[in-house]
Amino acid sequence: MDPKIRTVAVLGAGIMGNGISQTIAAAGPYLVYMVDVAQAILEQGLESIKKSLGRFTKKGEMTPEESEAIISRITPTTDFEVVQESDLVVEAIPEDLALKIETFQKLNDLCPTHAIMGTNTSSLPITSIAAATERPDMVIGIHFMNPVPVMKGVEVIKGLMTSPETVQATVNFVESIGKIPCLALDYAGFINSRLLSIYINEAVLAVMDGNPPEEVDKGMIHTANMPMGPLKLLDLIGLDVHLKIMDILRNEYGDRFLAAPLTRQMFRAGHLGRKTGRGFYQY
Ligand SMILES: NC(=O)c1ccc[n+]([C@@H]2O[C@H](COP(=O)([O-])OP(=O)(O)OC[C@H]3O[C@@H](n4cnc5c(N)ncnc54)[C@H](O)[C@@H]3O)[C@@H](O)[C@H]2O)c1
Repeated sequence: MDPKIRTVAVLGAGIMGNGISQTIAAAGPYLVYMVDVAQAILEQGLESIKKSLGRFTKKGEMTPEESEAIISRITPTTDFEVVQESDLVVEAIPEDLALKIETFQKLNDLCPTHAIMGTNTSSLPITSIAAATERPDMVIGIHFMNPVPVMKGVEVIKGLMTSPETVQATVNFVESIGKIPCLALDYAGFINSRLLSIYINEAVLAVMDGNPPEEVDKGMIHTANMPMGPLKLLDLIGLDVHLKIMDILRNEYGDRFLAAPLTRQMFRAGHLGRKTGRGFYQY
């Protein structure tokens, strides 16, 4: 682990924020502040963490004492000023550039000078967020995957002005929490979303050609060794989230990222996947 990083502030206790808090606290010596705007949201976040840890204890992968110790290293709070005590910030608030910029300007004013300021954004430019601060060399993308406690890879995204020292310290930190840092440059969609969205989009186009979703998924599982079919994955991600990413990528790279019309039609119908009980499959 990086000796300079001891205390981490995770901004947001939502799906990603609580998973990130859990994962960092589980790695050992780190102390985690999990910050959100309301007590009730923090309680929900903590509940999700307890549920997730419960699954590990049930499988015998963790003792109840270890689970308790992890929880004791997480301090939920609505006090944003705790970032003053942090060596690293991982921001996981909603995907809204104006909101992220406002938040990073506050971090710029409050964080200690040595603190690394990371964002978990899936699609916004790290360079734009960094440019809103007076220390863009300390701003970096730390893109965890959902569900965070399970997924191994973390994209580490260097903005145009991110320093090599910040990249190295972030890589060391990611390794210290048992994850695999995957370096990506700050172009829209980084590596993961850029490649995955084209693959998923092509699967929807194959359905429009007349292929049943089950066959498309079965084909990719058994002929390409994918752990899950692309349409089941799309249902998991949410058609709304996928469509938003496609539109951002199309804006940046052109029509090769044009979303399949069926995705937009299903979005309009509210068939967003698992979260609405209906997508390419029924839930
Ligand atoms: N959900 C995913 O699968 C996924 C995967 C990778 C990356 N991401 C990215 O992670 C980020 C968070 O996504 P999510 O799915 O966890 O969102 P979410 O809506 O579940 O959680 C966001 C949380 O941030 C809180 N929040 C809002 N403003 C805040 C502020 N100023 N300070 C502190 N907390 C604040 C909200 O109350 C909410 O609890 C986004 O940038 C998203 O693009 C999401």
